[in-house]
Amino acid sequence: MKRFVLAAVAAVVMSTAAYADTIKVGVVGPFSGPFALQGKNFKAGIDAYMAINGNKVGDNTVEVIYRDLPAADPAQSKALAQELVVKEKVQYLAGFYFTPDAMAVTPILKQANTPLVIMNAATSAIVTKSPLVVRTSFTTWQTSTPIAKVAHDAGVSKVISVVSDYGPGVDAENAFKAAFEKEGGQVVEAIRMPLSTNDFSPIMQRIKDSGAQGVFAFLPSGPTTLGFVKAYNENGLKAAGIKFFAPGDLTQESDLPALGDAALGIQTTFHYAVSHDSPENKAFVEAAAKAIGSKAELSFPAVGAYDGMNVIYKMIEATGGKQDAAKAVEAVKGLTWVSPRGPVSIDPESRHITQNIYLREVTKADDGTYYNKEVQTFEKQGDPGLAAAK
Ligand code: PHB
Repeated sequence: MKRFVLAAVAAVVMSTAAYADTIKVGVVGPFSGPFALQGKNFKAGIDAYMAINGNKVGDNTVEVIYRDLPAADPAQSKALAQELVVKEKVQYLAGFYFTPDAMAVTPILKQANTPLVIMNAATSAIVTKSPLVVRTSFTTWQTSTPIAKVAHDAGVSKVISVVSDYGPGVDAENAFKAAFEKEGGQVVEAIRMPLSTNDFSPIMQRIKDSGAQGVFAFLPSGPTTLGFVKAYNENGLKAAGIKFFAPGDLTQESDLPALGDAALGIQTTFHYAVSHDSPENKAFVEAAAKAIGSKAELSFPAVGAYDGMNVIYKMIEATGGKQDAAKAVEAVKGLTWVSPRGPVSIDPESRHITQNIYLREVTKADDGTYYNKEVQTFEKQGDPGLAAAK
């Protein structure tokens, strides 16, 4: 009898242990260096999600472990992901600001039995590299397609395209060109700059010399975008009447104070504006601003991370905390919720987020602060780049 009771107690303890684990989430992003603010926005989004929803899913406790990857560095990205899986025993990998860093991790997911929830990296093809990838950010195909119609509607027929020469830049160039030609417009020249470019004056000269009425541009948000938009203003392109068209990476809210009045009126298309008017966004902005320390530092990686955590919580719930990457991913296919950015869902086929894309205009508020004001909505946009990526 005594032995039986002991065995029963042991069984209860064991089963409780199996259902009350600490579930570790490994997040890789730029937390130091020139792109540190982008990484801090990942953390602010994650902290905001956990402040609002708690750190428990059922009986399981969620713990987030961060690893710093200051610049695009695929080899280091893979090494960090492997260390998180093997040593830290994370059940989920998440974050990843730059495309090459996300790409480098896709080959290890199956063996590691780990889903990858991408909170930023925006090249369409990433989701095709592993069935265990889910993305809650955007693609540059998704954000650069609607701006072509905006350019056409502004009476512009000749545009020069300037992008960073890597995945999301090439996607942005292709997306804009396809959509602009459909409108009857023409891309007169397409420049691809090395990712490391920080002197934009020669590019500005080429834009002037091209005879184009407008420029389409994509660079990854950070010191890069700030430098590019400043150069556009300071080299007299704006004064010369050359119109500026871009996805919202180019006018992220945290860059606006440094751009000042020169940025007023710039129109971009994007999945998120900090100013988005909804109860969900109000709660999010309050929690994320508290986490990062100041509302002025908030930018789009925070919302990608916030929604990424929502997906991970659903995965933990569906697997009861047990490590089963395929079951976890299956559980979020078709998942629909109201994000701070608006209504969203995970497309079951691509595992990429379907969302509204907004046309926004840089505007000065009564209190002197600058913001992206939403002026038009392109509803329920999937990823037009997926067909090209396959
Ligand atoms: C990317 O590398 O995929 C990337 C980074 C920053 C952006 C957009 C895309 O703003």
